[in-house]
Amino acid sequence: MTAMNVIDADFSPLLRVSRISKRFGRTSALADVDLDVPRGSFTCLVGPSGCGKTTLLRCICGLETVDTGRIVCAGRDITDLSPSARQMGLVFQSYALFPNLNVTRNVAYGVPRTLGRREIERKVDALLEAVGLSGYGARRPEELSGGQQQRVAIARALAPEPSLLLLDEPLSALDAQLRLQVRAELQSLQKRLGVTTVMVTHDQAEALAVADRIAVMKEGLVVQAGSPFDLYYRPADRFVAGFLGRMNFLSAKAQAPGCVQLASGEAVGVDTEGLAAGVAVDLGIRPEDVVLSPEAANDGTCLGLRVLRREFVGAMMRLEAVHVGCDAVLALDVPARLGRTIGEGAEIEVLLPAARLHVFPAGQV
Ligand SMILES: Nc1ncnc2c1ncn2[C@@H]1O[C@H](COP(=O)(O)OP(=O)(O)O)[C@@H](O)[C@H]1O
Ligand SMILES: [Mg+2]
Repeated sequence: MTAMNVIDADFSPLLRVSRISKRFGRTSALADVDLDVPRGSFTCLVGPSGCGKTTLLRCICGLETVDTGRIVCAGRDITDLSPSARQMGLVFQSYALFPNLNVTRNVAYGVPRTLGRREIERKVDALLEAVGLSGYGARRPEELSGGQQQRVAIARALAPEPSLLLLDEPLSALDAQLRLQVRAELQSLQKRLGVTTVMVTHDQAEALAVADRIAVMKEGLVVQAGSPFDLYYRPADRFVAGFLGRMNFLSAKAQAPGCVQLASGEAVGVDTEGLAAGVAVDLGIRPEDVVLSPEAANDGTCLGLRVLRREFVGAMMRLEAVHVGCDAVLALDVPARLGRTIGEGAEIEVLLPAARLHVFPAGQV
C-alpha cells in the first residue's frame, strides 16, 4: 500500500446524515447512507449515474422525505423540517433563472423580504461582485453565457445566507473549457466565503480538483469518504480505485506471508496481512506508478510487456501493453518524448514498485 501522511481538514461536521434510506416503489435509491460534511468544507458526492446522488441531495434539503434515518445540521435535527425551514441554498444543472427578470431581480429574489430596499440593493451588489458579475445587473439571463447564468444561480442561492450550499451537477451543461473555468471560480468563491458546500458530480476529475472531501457512492450507499488524497492513494476497494483515476488490476493468489503469485507465475512481495495462502486477490497499480525500463536493485516486480497502443495526452504518453505471460493488459504513463520512441509492438520491461501496489479481494468491483 502507498504510505501517505494525509492531514484531514478540521473535522467538525456541520451536517450529519445517519443511516438514511429512501425507496421509490421497488427501487431502493438510498440504503442506509451515512455522510458527514465538515463545516466549511467543499464536499463532493461522486458515483455512477443512478447511484442516488440527487436523491441524497434532495433528502438533505427536504425536497424528498426519508423513509428511515436522521439528518442533523448545526446540531439541530432537521429530518422533519420543510425545505424552507432548512435554509439551504440550491443550484441545479439547469440554471432555473427567471427568464423575464434581469440579473439583479433574479438575485434579489433570494434575499429575505424583511430587508429594506437599500439593504437588498447592497446585498445584491455584494453577491454579484462575489461571483464576478458586477455591472451585469441589468442584463437578462438570455444575454449571458451559460457560465455566467450559472454564477447568477449561485449568487441567488447564496442570497439568504444558507447554512449549506447544495449543487447538483452545476457545471454539466457547460462546454469543456467553460466548465474548467467555472469550476475554478466556484472553488475560489467557496473558499472565500467559507460556505459549507456539497456538490454532486459524476466527473471524478472535477471532484479531485475542487473537493477537500469526497464521498463515493455506489448503488445507494456511500462506499468511502475522505480527502481526495486518501481516496486516491488508499481506496477501500476496486470500485473506488477504478472510479477515481485509473488503476490496473492483475489477478494473483496469496502464497507465503508477504508474497502473492501472479497468474503468469511471478512472485510479488506485498502486504498479505489477513490473507490465507491460496486466497485469490487482485493487485492494483496506477498507470503513473508503473516504472518503464527500471534500473536494477529497485524494490519491486519486473514484468515483460508488449505495447498494444499509445495515446498521446500532451504532457505524457499513455501506453497500453499486454503482459506476455498472462494476457493481462496494463496502462502506464511515460513522458511523452520518451513514449514517442516506443512503437506499437515494442517489447518493454517495467517495474511494479512494491510500495505502489494495492491488494484487493479478487473479483469484487
Ligand atoms: N422520483 C423518482 N421516482 C422513481 N424513481 C426515482 C425517482 N428519483 C430517483 N429514482 C431512482 O432512484 C435511483 C437513484 O436516482 P438518482 O438519485 O437520481 O441518481 P443519480 O443522481 O446518482 O444519477 C435511480 O434508480 C432512479 O431511477
Ligand atoms: Mg443526479
